Amino acid sequence: MNAKVNISNRAGASFPVRRMDFEFGEVPRYWAANDAGLTHFMTTLSALFPEGEQYFVDSTRAVHKHPKLSDPDLQREISAFIGQEAMHSKEHLAFNSSAQSYGYDIRTMEQQTGKVIRTGTKILTTLLKPFGVTKEMIDLTGTCALEHFTAVIAAELLQNKDVQAMFNDSTMHQLWMWHAVEENEHKAVVFDVYTAIYGNGLKAYTMRAIAMIIAMGLIFMTQSYFTAQLMKIDGKLTWKDSKYMLKFMYARKGFMTRQIPELLDFFRPNFHPNDSDTDQLLADWKLKLGL
Ligand SMILES: [Fe+2]
Ligand SMILES: [Fe+2]
Repeated sequence: MNAKVNISNRAGASFPVRRMDFEFGEVPRYWAANDAGLTHFMTTLSALFPEGEQYFVDSTRAVHKHPKLSDPDLQREISAFIGQEAMHSKEHLAFNSSAQSYGYDIRTMEQQTGKVIRTGTKILTTLLKPFGVTKEMIDLTGTCALEHFTAVIAAELLQNKDVQAMFNDSTMHQLWMWHAVEENEHKAVVFDVYTAIYGNGLKAYTMRAIAMIIAMGLIFMTQSYFTAQLMKIDGKLTWKDSKYMLKFMYARKGFMTRQIPELLDFFRPNFHPNDSDTDQLLADWKLKLGL
């Protein structure tokens, strides 16, 4: 791996925090399949991460002293989760800044992502206040749903060789695979925090199901809008230049379409992130990446 890796497990959790330091200076303009559409689709996912993952950290930190979270094992998992997400934010921020040099204003997209998150949670907090729903609950529920989304995308990335083949730059390959490994290492943490505090009853279930629908809608709209913006900058906002990406992502067996059953699994009342076993997959990839 051409990034500096510094693995620490001071928290004593079931997974470590790896301090990464990728060098993005040599990343080409089109680093995914040499294709503008695919590169921009992945870049705009990256644009969502700095503010998005900071939101996960803040939402979890806001409740971590809750009396129902006194289990020391869970506290260790929370600390390591926060460490991993903070590192993802930092590295995606560094990549996003490097993309600015090609004339793509990712910084503005990061700020707009923050605005979408703040506005969305503000509206929901106002609407749900009469039902005794607090801002902490809304934030944690949103995080819980989005953590499932990221874990599912990440598992697909680790499993699917056709998807892995899109990276024509080794730094970008390593960035995404490292991130994918860690999303699966910590996929159960927020869900366990959520159920420890709010239980498994009808209210907790309804909240997380609604949160998933809203989160998916907002991500789809925001990220599609960002992708169109980048295609426009390149003068490639046409069917001819977008069709490879659209088929790759949304065709019958596309990268995104293939994940629908796993995403829908979240709506099972007795769902738990660890129901889908990714242990062997993680062991293989940690070996491959030298993590
Ligand atoms: Fe992450
Ligand atoms: Fe995560």
